[in-house]
Amino acid sequence: MAGKIITTERTDEDISIENHLRPQRLKDYIGQQKAKDTIGVYIEAAKKRGESLDHVLLYGPPGLGKTTLAGIIANEMGVDMKITAGPAIEKPGEMAAILNNLKEGDVLFVDEVHRLNRQVEEVLYPAMEDYAIDIVIGKGASARSIRLELPHFTLIGATTRAGMLTAPLRDRFGVVHRLEYYDVSDLQKIITRSAAVLNVEIDPDGAAQIAARSRGTPRLANRLLKRVRDFAQVQYDGRITAEVVDYALDVLDVDKAGLDRMDRRVLDAVISKFGGGPVGLETLATALSEDVGTLEDVCEPYLIQRGFLVRTQRGRMATPAAYRHLGIPYDEGASDRAGAADGQIRFEDL
Ligand code: ADE
Repeated sequence: MAGKIITTERTDEDISIENHLRPQRLKDYIGQQKAKDTIGVYIEAAKKRGESLDHVLLYGPPGLGKTTLAGIIANEMGVDMKITAGPAIEKPGEMAAILNNLKEGDVLFVDEVHRLNRQVEEVLYPAMEDYAIDIVIGKGASARSIRLELPHFTLIGATTRAGMLTAPLRDRFGVVHRLEYYDVSDLQKIITRSAAVLNVEIDPDGAAQIAARSRGTPRLANRLLKRVRDFAQVQYDGRITAEVVDYALDVLDVDKAGLDRMDRRVLDAVISKFGGGPVGLETLATALSEDVGTLEDVCEPYLIQRGFLVRTQRGRMATPAAYRHLGIPYDEGASDRAGAADGQIRFEDL
């Protein structure tokens, strides 16, 4: 998906911005109140008992701060965090080595935890449950298993696809939290905080404008902030105002609803090529020459959240709001076929 401005995939630039902007303490983490409140209690309780924190599963769309929250948990517990990702660990021995190198209380953060292969995952079961791993020595009839004790550690798993986790793995997480899209006012606070860290002046209106166009996602908010800062410094006087944001985001082709060219192409294809839907995701991806995974993980959740797209058993459908947004006259025929009327999606279709 080259050239997609508001992809939530993490780029190298994001990694460096995020490391720089990431809050280090729970009190500085904005939004996600429920997750913050409960995790705060578990941290305090574990510290009082002098124990490691129970394993935590964080799930939800990309870019909402799962890694940030994991880092905060480690900081608040006063321990180190090792970071890895599901696809990076290919062999059970690699997982065993990572676990064996942890220190007492450490956090092991596994991003994309749903992508661990089965054998690697099986190393985690006794590790999570009993802080031990079973190692098989020898082959055939003389093979025997020895148990290696591990330090008490906290596994923090992150995934965009909680449904793809196997039941035995999911069941071993004592704390499970879904991170939600941020509302505009929380995003505005995040942007204001990030601007202060980056040492760039920003008007409340400027921050609100970026927030409104960041599709509920801090990663995008911070990325747009950096781009807008470039325009503010080169074409204006350095201060980010609503006018600068408007100008910069128009140049970047991010519209008032936070949709970029790719999102609008998706809606336009559903409407123009498939009569408003329903259309299957694979068919849609083929028509757009795009990757199904990106459509499903990045475009679709936001289009659904904004009420531009609905998921039905027969496929994806554009809503009347999508027609309005693109300035395409609403086709009543399509609405009858699909069971949707303006503002009234029939939920038996969902
Ligand atoms: N940066 C990214 N996510 C954040 C959050 N939830 N609070 C503060 N800063 C952030």
